[in-house]
Amino acid sequence: MLKYFLYVVVLAIVVGLTCSGVHLYRVAQKNKKEMAPYQTESIKVTKTFGKTLVVYYSLSGHTRDIAQRIQQKTGADIYEIKTAQKIDKYPWFYLNLRRQLKNKKFPKLEGQMPDFTKYDTVFVGFPVWWYTMATPGFSFLKQADFMGKKVVPFSTQGSNVGTFFADFANTAQNAVLLKGNSFNNLPKKYDGAVDNKIAVWLNELN
Ligand SMILES: Cc1cc2nc3c(=O)[nH]c(=O)nc-3n(C[C@H](O)[C@H](O)[C@H](O)COP(=O)(O)O)c2cc1C
Repeated sequence: MLKYFLYVVVLAIVVGLTCSGVHLYRVAQKNKKEMAPYQTESIKVTKTFGKTLVVYYSLSGHTRDIAQRIQQKTGADIYEIKTAQKIDKYPWFYLNLRRQLKNKKFPKLEGQMPDFTKYDTVFVGFPVWWYTMATPGFSFLKQADFMGKKVVPFSTQGSNVGTFFADFANTAQNAVLLKGNSFNNLPKKYDGAVDNKIAVWLNELN
């Protein structure tokens, strides 16, 4: 009996590893195809956005990286959204965050909201969690009144943005939304291409 149980466990592990290997391979191929047009000489940003602010939340650094690149290319101020209580990455935190999203239980944020009156354009970026915005993103947008400012959303994710941009549009109050963009987590070899993707996006915004 124990022998059959072990067979089933080993089979489940093999199937699991094979599926995740196939998934990772397919994502890598998709990323390669998406980034190919950006593997060129460095593209300059020619567009200006007036006084600009980049707002972001980041749990593990990817969204911070994209936010800082946008800041560098636009000469913007930058504002990091922080939760009042740190989100710990204990083993089951993924499932906990999923439950919080389902129950619309969003965390309290630390500090003051930025003063949007000082800005013409506000870039706002969050990670994708469970096919939508990260919970601190919901907290932030529910508190923010953009007062007719131009708002440009961006996301970072493994591979699937789900309903991130629709949820952003439904939650951002009084924003004039410009075209957003999403950034998959990519290996270092794509660094230049990511910069070009941002530059092309910024140049096309209006
Ligand atoms: C709780 C949780 C849920 C996630 N859900 C998704 C998802 O639905 N789709 C996806 O492509 N990536 C998902 N990811 C991966 C993150 O979106 C991705 O790693 C993101 O770039 C992390 O941003 P950060 O490093 O700024 O925190 C999830 C990550 C976490 C922690």
